[in-house]
Amino acid sequence: MTRVIDGKAIAAEIRSELKVSVSSLTRKTGIVPGLAVLLVGDNPASQVYVRNKQKSASDIGMNPLDIKFDQDVDAKTIESTLHQLNQDESVHGILVQLPLPDHLDEKLIIRHINPMKDVDGLHPENVGLLLSGTPRFIPATPAGIHQLLIRTNNNPSGKHVVICGRSDIVGKPIAALLLQKDKASNATVTICHTGTKDIGEITRQADILIAAVGIPEIITPDMVSEGVVVIDVGINRILDPSKKSGYRLVGDVQYDDVSLKASAITPVPGGVGPMTIGMLLYNTLKSAKLNAQ
Ligand code: GUN
Repeated sequence: MTRVIDGKAIAAEIRSELKVSVSSLTRKTGIVPGLAVLLVGDNPASQVYVRNKQKSASDIGMNPLDIKFDQDVDAKTIESTLHQLNQDESVHGILVQLPLPDHLDEKLIIRHINPMKDVDGLHPENVGLLLSGTPRFIPATPAGIHQLLIRTNNNPSGKHVVICGRSDIVGKPIAALLLQKDKASNATVTICHTGTKDIGEITRQADILIAAVGIPEIITPDMVSEGVVVIDVGINRILDPSKKSGYRLVGDVQYDDVSLKASAITPVPGGVGPMTIGMLLYNTLKSAKLNAQ
């Protein structure tokens, strides 16, 4: 029988564990973990994500700091704000919500975040630490996927994990994480991307399939084998006139048909999405603790 992996419930469990740890840190040291989130422009999806991050931080006793810029802000203005936040002792985590407008170079901007406060784990120093097997901040979505697997008894050790998508934010770091020589990772990892000749040939070999492509319902049932564990990272808006909002969210996986073959699968929404915020808060607490030492 297919098991639906309830990311919403597991994320709530993680947030309540974190709330206890935050309260203990604050009681012992007086430190209230501070999380600064920078949002550029008015991308509706990013606005929702940022609001949810701020609310969740506040709910577990952290101090959220909300910084908004107009769509046409220049890189120098963002960089000088990042330099101020780097110096601010009340801020332990800094995150620049992505994607940024086209005139801004994301990679260059991220380099201006102090790597000790880079709770997104996207600064080259943190990327290198993860790849070399001594992670400091694991990017939130990959860390969330890892927790989903572990907390549902789907330890990736010894399994063939196939990842569709090679983004800096999901595909590459989840590959690096699951490759680690560690009892909770230790997987054989294959990454498929736009240069892969026959993706279905590879995805059918997966014990665990991670879809992080950003194309609605591109993973079809003929691309998976019976018993596969499916992690769907996609959050795609598709038009749906029957909804009040005019759209609905679907993943990268054809959920109804693929779930008939899968032993376990994450829904969209309610799978990976809520975990991302939980792990961002985990990283922010870790940063505050590193700071306390
Ligand atoms: N946009 C979508 N997911 C993320 C994330 O994990 N971090 C940042 N900074 N932006 C995102």
